[in-house]
Amino acid sequence: KTIAVILAGGSGERFGSELPKQFIKLAGKPIIEYTLKTFQEHPLIEEIIVVIKQEYEEKLWNIVKENNFYKVNKIINGGKDRFGSTYAALNALEYEDSNIKVLFHDAVRPLVDKKTIDDVIKALDKYDAVDTAIDATDTIIKINDDWIIEDIPNRKYMKRGQTPQGFKLNTIKKAYQKAINENKRSFTCDCGVVNEMLKIPIKVVKSTIKNIKITYPIDLYIAEKYIQMGIEYDLKEINLEKLKGKNIVIFGNSSGI
Ligand code: CTP
Repeated sequence: KTIAVILAGGSGERFGSELPKQFIKLAGKPIIEYTLKTFQEHPLIEEIIVVIKQEYEEKLWNIVKENNFYKVNKIINGGKDRFGSTYAALNALEYEDSNIKVLFHDAVRPLVDKKTIDDVIKALDKYDAVDTAIDATDTIIKINDDWIIEDIPNRKYMKRGQTPQGFKLNTIKKAYQKAINENKRSFTCDCGVVNEMLKIPIKVVKSTIKNIKITYPIDLYIAEKYIQMGIEYDLKEINLEKLKGKNIVIFGNSSGI
């Protein structure tokens, strides 16, 4: 059995709108509608749980009903940070079966594709924890509090972590329980909790650049372009030939594309 948890309990301070960004419209539909549709239509996902702030619960149920997202069987209230929201979801998952797979996904990554979800679920046959990532195109530098470089790791090994992140249910529960017991909660993702608390191997599968996290308003424009262009965004598949006639300006008008 595979369950998806959609984390939508944030308020989107960096985005800056009054309505949390997960409800903002992207090409005519609320961001979270895209996210839920992809998990609803995935044949291996049997159940969906959404974490949200209480005041938006009704708004979300309306979206679920209007679209007949019948796999959504629980909407629960989030915590004050992402850690608290994941923990709330874990408490709502009262299964004992150690083979249950659970995927955590940011509601604000509406363009996640089926293949990435497939790959995470498949990797969980072999591993108890799985992350998704794309290549880093910038060089990643590690600094200290005075902005002095401490390390410049080889870019080949630097990746940008995304979601979904998948776990065996008992693994993620164990990691969170240990973090609570040790009073640690400043993690930015669930793999971070498993990595620090359990120190077990976490497999990484490749995601796509279009699986962006809507964080700032500009991200909405980028996501809209991806939708308009309508092609799969495996980096290797993007070349000038494919972008011809897609009605976007790449190098300015003089490029001749
Ligand atoms: N999230 C959550 N509960 C929280 C905080 C975040 O479920 N207490 C979710 C968000 O709704 C989002 C995902 O985690 O889908 C990634 O969070 P991010 O976009 O980084 O956080 P926000 O809190 O929404 O935005 P900001 O940091 O700008 O306030």
